[in-house]
Amino acid sequence: MMETLGRVLVVVPTYNERDNLPAIVERLRAAVPYAHVLVADDNSPDGTGEVADRLAAGDEQVHVLHRPGKQGLGAAYIAGFRWGLDEGFDVLVEMDADGSHQPEELPKLLRAVAEGADLAIGSRYVPGGKVVNWPQRRELLSKGANVYTRVMLGLPVRDATAGFRAYRAATLEKVGLAGVESQGYCFQVDLTLRTSRHGLRVVEVPITFVERTVGKSKMSGKVMSEALWRIGLWGVTGLPGRLKGPRRP
Ligand code: GDD
Ligand code: MN
Repeated sequence: MMETLGRVLVVVPTYNERDNLPAIVERLRAAVPYAHVLVADDNSPDGTGEVADRLAAGDEQVHVLHRPGKQGLGAAYIAGFRWGLDEGFDVLVEMDADGSHQPEELPKLLRAVAEGADLAIGSRYVPGGKVVNWPQRRELLSKGANVYTRVMLGLPVRDATAGFRAYRAATLEKVGLAGVESQGYCFQVDLTLRTSRHGLRVVEVPITFVERTVGKSKMSGKVMSEALWRIGLWGVTGLPGRLKGPRRP
């Protein structure tokens, strides 16, 4: 598969994931040995950055991007993607550090890209997709966010907020990362919308999302309110085009 895909970089954003990072990197290196890993750490107070440096020192396929402070999941991914594009990677993957995304399922996403997807989304809400161990209120929040997104944006995607994905480098170059302002988790919706508006091929692959057992989620009121107003704004500004008919790139 590597022959058709080219070089693969998995970007793993971290904020206080000291106790999760070594195991997830080890699983990832075992599951897809040819992939490189970039840890994008926001100067975590718990020392995740140093843990990442130690992993990188022992493995030339592991890299670290140290960022000055907590600037959000979206900002960390944009910086990580830029690094990967500059280094000439052909496929850029998003994956959480806390074990919710199982590295053993990454080959499925990569296969979808090899078969023609411009963006493959690891989806919890297509047949075969699952969520394990989420409290009911978190599940409702996630499903509610997806309904809100579908109503506002008319995206033909079941899991637009999903954070386990594989992008072709060409997709990221086309959608224009420089214009992305989303800082928090709405970055996921932002890029799904941009990819879809460019007429690129988005494919959802079922995955099982497993709630973390170690550490805490960084979901916050700030993350939620940013998603609410930005998605609302994209919905309103995109409405004239939606009423006129199918979108063009
Ligand atoms: N560098 C950096 N900066 N990393 C961050 C930040 C940040 O500000 N905020 C979160 N992260 C990292 C976490 O350390 C973790 O590796 C990953 O991003 C996901 O964060 P979680 O806090 O574990 O997210 P979640 O489990 O609540 O949310 C999941 O579901 C969301 C909704 O579906 C993730 O998969 C999200 O990507 C997804 O949007
Ligand atoms: Mn998580």
